[in-house]
Amino acid sequence: MALYSEKVMDHFRNPRNVGVIEDADGIGQVGNAKCGDIMKMYLKIENDIVEDVKFETFGCGSAIASSSMATEMIKGKPLSEAMQLTNKAVAEALDGLPDYKMHCSVLAEEAIRSAIDDYYKKQEAKKDE
Ligand code: FES
Repeated sequence: MALYSEKVMDHFRNPRNVGVIEDADGIGQVGNAKCGDIMKMYLKIENDIVEDVKFETFGCGSAIASSSMATEMIKGKPLSEAMQLTNKAVAEALDGLPDYKMHCSVLAEEAIRSAIDDYYKKQEAKKDE
């Protein structure tokens, strides 16, 4: 059996939503200390809906495929739903990742949470102004 599913290979070769959102409402960056990979997520939020999402990943193929799939899974969704996205759901949507590559999907979950946290913090800061 191939090590990586067709979906992983597809999202690795043609990642969706790569790039930067200049006026992002929330930005999250996470890294894995062991492998050194870094993932950055940008969110554009309107009425608590993820209007747009982009990512930059400096990492392995599984991390790129995971970020790409994760962005597809939260685009157009309410923040409350995006917040619930788990790395397991991302890996399942990719038709699985090898066990030793599961940590790559964790980066996607963490990057999205961190971007949403950043969005909420910025909202709070605006209220205080
Ligand atoms: Fe580190 Fe994939 S090997 S994110």
